[in-house]
Amino acid sequence: MSKVTIVGAGNVGATGANVMAFKEVADEIVLLDIKEGISEGKSLDMMQTATLLGFDSRITGVTNDYSATAGSDVVVITSGIPRKPGMTREELIGVNAGIVKGVAKSILDYSPNAIIICVSNPMDTMTYLIQKSLGLPKNRVIGMGGLLDSSRFKCYLSKALNANPNEIEGTVIGGHGDTTMIPLRRLATYKGVPAESLLDKETMDKVVADTMVGGATLTGLLGTSAWYAPGAALAYVAEAILHDQKKLMSCCVYLEGEYGESDICIGVPVVLGRTGWEKIVDFNLNDEEKALFAKSAAAVRKTNAVLKDINVL
Ligand code: NAI
Ligand code: 2OP
Repeated sequence: MSKVTIVGAGNVGATGANVMAFKEVADEIVLLDIKEGISEGKSLDMMQTATLLGFDSRITGVTNDYSATAGSDVVVITSGIPRKPGMTREELIGVNAGIVKGVAKSILDYSPNAIIICVSNPMDTMTYLIQKSLGLPKNRVIGMGGLLDSSRFKCYLSKALNANPNEIEGTVIGGHGDTTMIPLRRLATYKGVPAESLLDKETMDKVVADTMVGGATLTGLLGTSAWYAPGAALAYVAEAILHDQKKLMSCCVYLEGEYGESDICIGVPVVLGRTGWEKIVDFNLNDEEKALFAKSAAAVRKTNAVLKDINVL
């Protein structure tokens, strides 16, 4: 039996639960929110799709009752506020840090062995907060951001190439921020052929720029941040862990010298399996990419420093 808890039954958490149930990522999915009735209502609605979609996962919803989350193998934290148009992810720190820290503590009281996936923004800093304040083995704390950004990168590449997105490879590393993420244009391919050899520089520049503001573009259109791709991405991470898939994807993890950085959580290519993130893969960045990564890490560190200023770390 496998069990997942998703804290925050808002747009992203509920979509993640829906995708997980449909794909039977876990036998049991618990949705938890502080808003009275929202988790119960959404989980009941989703359970009523079981016979229509043909899945066997069981979804239940609770209002702030952590005892129902006991024994979870994976816990996804999406609780907090999303960005509004014009806001950066970093501006959410004041509200979300307190929520994320409190939620993570409560989760561990009931699921001491859980692997935690952090989604709440600013995600790199929230992942660092969880890692530092709970002192868990580092492989059990994973931030979801780079996978979503990579999927946006592949979407924009597929449009530029007029190609099937599933035949494109592309990875975004670094921070999950409009100016901190690094779409690795040199390594993007279409059926193994470098995308840079198929697109002119101006088009590739636009693909990279569109990817970096991918979240902001959607926030502008929707009035709040996106949920379909974020929900699918968090389910993809949970599936790789619970099904021990050993899949390689960009996730935010604690570095101890890898990619030239230490004491920071930031997006790098990692292999995911049943014990969480199992290894970091070195993509042999060139000097230009290394410089971008160092710059991204410096920006994430600046946001991390706010945790001390507001006394949550
Ligand atoms: P939302 O507002 O739709 O849902 C958030 C939910 O958290 C609400 O239902 C709220 O009641 C709940 N909540 C707040 N405090 C709580 C607490 N203490 N305990 C339990 N539940 C609590 O927001 P949405 O769109 O689902 O976004 C959630 C978070 O995920 C935001 O911080 C957003 O910026 C972030 N996000 C991160 C992405 C990523 O790639 N890492 C992608 C998309 C969103
Ligand atoms: C996104 O990338 C805002 O992190 C959120 O859609």
